[in-house]
Amino acid sequence: MARRKVVAGNWKMNMTPSEAKALVETLKPLVESNDVDVIYCVPAIDIVPVVEAVKGTKVEVGAENMYIEEKGAFTGEISPNMLTDAGCKYVIIGHSERRQYFKEDDAFLNKKVLKAFEHGLVPILCCGETLEQREAGVTLDWINLQIKSDLQGVTKEQAASMIIAYEPIWAIGTGKTATSEQAQEVCCAIRKTVAGIFDTDTAEKIRIQYGGSVNAKTAPELFSMPDIDGGLVGGAALKPDFGQIVNYRN
Ligand code: PGA
Repeated sequence: MARRKVVAGNWKMNMTPSEAKALVETLKPLVESNDVDVIYCVPAIDIVPVVEAVKGTKVEVGAENMYIEEKGAFTGEISPNMLTDAGCKYVIIGHSERRQYFKEDDAFLNKKVLKAFEHGLVPILCCGETLEQREAGVTLDWINLQIKSDLQGVTKEQAASMIIAYEPIWAIGTGKTATSEQAQEVCCAIRKTVAGIFDTDTAEKIRIQYGGSVNAKTAPELFSMPDIDGGLVGGAALKPDFGQIVNYRN
């Protein structure tokens, strides 16, 4: 069975609640699609208004981060059950900005992945190499290591249902998209890693996105590569271009 494409917006730290509602309204007619799943991953404070605003559409809502406990003395954090209660279905885990600025390591991210599954949230697990790593020729080894560490203890049924986003750090927010061949090479390698951890059936089911300066121009070729099942989109997710990315086939 062919995998369904999935295009997720990663809003990052953008959009106040009122701006978020307005953006959802602007995008509403543009992101309609019968064959692409659309997700808005939004700042915590925007979750409730965005869940409300997408009612009646097929768009699902995700969070950009979560903590690994249900409740307690963790000032400033947000729990998986808060996310599900608010209407989230997805959660981004291990974005390179969280790894870099908030020092989240693979052991911690593995806990987050397991916790998300425990609460029925679908993780969008991010991985990716730096420019130095790419130039040193260690990209595939590095990503293999990230995926293996982050997926420890995950069952194959869980893995089959999740999303992995390959985001080369040098391509994020830089306007430098990886070429379709570069992106395909790594997404294919990720699928092989998943096959190695679980089996080929799981690897065929898991959805792997490319992220890093995806725009309306680059999406069609990227998303037509055999192992790229859609994209995780930052900057362009805040603009009408997002509709063109979702409808990249037209
Ligand atoms: P970008 O961000 O599309 O703005 O490069 C992608 C991401 O960080 O998820």
